Amino acid sequence: MCGIVGIIGTQPVAPLLVDALKRLEYRGYDSAGVATIEGNHLDRRRAEGKLVNLEARLKASPLSGTVGIGHTRWATHGAPTERNAHPHATETVAIVHNGIIENFFSLKTELQAAGYAFHTDTDTEVVAVLLTQALDKGLKPVEAFRAVLPRLEGAFALAVLFDGETDLLIAARHGPPLAIGHGDGEMYIGSDAIALSPFTDQVTFLEDGDWAVLTASSAAFFDKTGATVERRAQTSSAMHMTVDKGNHRHFMEKEIHEQPEVMSHTLAHFLDFSSGTARDNRAPIDFGAIDRLALSACGTAYYAGLIGKYWMERVARLPVDIDVASEFRYREMPLKKGGLALFISQSGETADTLASLRYCKENGQHIGAIVNVPESTIARESDAIFQTLAGPEIGVASTKAFTCQLSVLVSLAIAVGKARGAIDAAKEVELIRALTEAPRYANKALKLERQIEKIAGDLAKVRHILYLGRDTNYPLALEGALKLKEISYIHAEGYAAGELKHGPIALIDENMPVVVIAPHDRIFEKTVSNMQEVAARGGRIILITDEKGAAEASIEAEHVVVMPNMPEILTPIVYAIPVQLLAYHTALAMGTDVDQPRNLAKSVTVE
Ligand code: AGP
Repeated sequence: MCGIVGIIGTQPVAPLLVDALKRLEYRGYDSAGVATIEGNHLDRRRAEGKLVNLEARLKASPLSGTVGIGHTRWATHGAPTERNAHPHATETVAIVHNGIIENFFSLKTELQAAGYAFHTDTDTEVVAVLLTQALDKGLKPVEAFRAVLPRLEGAFALAVLFDGETDLLIAARHGPPLAIGHGDGEMYIGSDAIALSPFTDQVTFLEDGDWAVLTASSAAFFDKTGATVERRAQTSSAMHMTVDKGNHRHFMEKEIHEQPEVMSHTLAHFLDFSSGTARDNRAPIDFGAIDRLALSACGTAYYAGLIGKYWMERVARLPVDIDVASEFRYREMPLKKGGLALFISQSGETADTLASLRYCKENGQHIGAIVNVPESTIARESDAIFQTLAGPEIGVASTKAFTCQLSVLVSLAIAVGKARGAIDAAKEVELIRALTEAPRYANKALKLERQIEKIAGDLAKVRHILYLGRDTNYPLALEGALKLKEISYIHAEGYAAGELKHGPIALIDENMPVVVIAPHDRIFEKTVSNMQEVAARGGRIILITDEKGAAEASIEAEHVVVMPNMPEILTPIVYAIPVQLLAYHTALAMGTDVDQPRNLAKSVTVE
């Protein structure tokens, strides 16, 4: 939700902090700030809105300190104003924080009763004041931190600077991730390894509950009991991740167009295209012994899971329980020991998904994670990682990660189906031969962009849109609605086409565009009937179908996007592309901030 950084070394750190924050801006961009020690005293610069505003502030009034902390904010407590921007500080302590201090109100009340003043509406400020109180009682910084940390409840990652301490930085992780970077005469703190990649690829990922005391040349690690622990550094792959737009206007546009390439990498990782067989399952899980699968994720990743459910049940004959993680984690789902629970997450840091994973682990499940970041918390707490090879996804609206998640799920459905004897060798080869074609069909779908751009011009004029689909196109309708609303701010709703007549049809009139996702599949005629119900009430139909469907639809549609005919197993993966392009171009027409839509963040690390 927010991004935090810290650097301690021998050169002015403010420009380096800003460089690191640029790599974290996808986590939140309501405000930004840095704090350093100038002439032995704390000083800070903060600005509302995006990082460019902080850069302008620093240009006008530079900082030259060689130790500092920085923050880019997604507001949880307190409006996104400069007053509430991190770092928060007293005369003696400056702090940046990602997460939520759940007991901040009781702590704030206690401190106010002790005579301490507060100047912001945030939960974070209470930690700065608590540390100040400990210093006022005569504790040294490290001991003050050791005394205060156990009093904090909630999910937080912190970095703290102390007045007058030019060779000290303290950091702590209690939920959201935190990485420690090892440099040459410099040490770093970052919310993830990407933030540190300009400086080092030697990274230590703090375990949950850990805290660390850094000097420019050393790092000491402590666990949640305060005992000294060893934490090994590892070489981070983030160093090689390029995070630039290339010749695209937005990260989202670039990432939509990267899909043929990254889905082929992901499919090839799990499927042997030459032999037409699923690669040996190297995970420490016997797929043949699994008789039920629990699936959980959030947002777009959840919609990928919904499609995965159809495949697991249809191809592998494996019953699947799926729920959004924010519900799953509290449902107390009965789980037979030895079952498999699968969690889907691009970032690998989503708090609700992580909490659901921990519930399943406590209930004796094998844990699998479909993640895009192999060093993420969800990955590190899983028994088996099924990695999407999408590369860094910077656009807040998930696109290439979604089709790579589908690529993993369809590959797993084949592998599980094979292990359970639900499919024979011939079926396995047939499915994998079809999947070999996915990138080619995806490229064909991208060639429809200009037509879709024209349709988007019409959608930009309306305020409500309905998406319909059946079978695996129903979760795609949900995803299409999410994509549209999260970047264009137009209200959109996805619905099972067969459910239209059970209420939503009351919405249909000449002002309601209805996007229907309907390749010519086993239930195409049923969807045609739904479209006729819409047309009979003056609804505006935008049909995304294939050549066969277009020939047979016999429907007065306002627009028809004709995809190539393709094997049914491919349609959820390939039809995601016109759905994404429609959202992207509608947002462009609306003039919204496509890569960093209002109120959102790329990684939701608080519940
Ligand atoms: C999708 O476009 C959104 N950015 C959001 O729904 C996202 O999919 C969800 O927050 C889950 O994130 P994760 O995959 O990193 O867990």
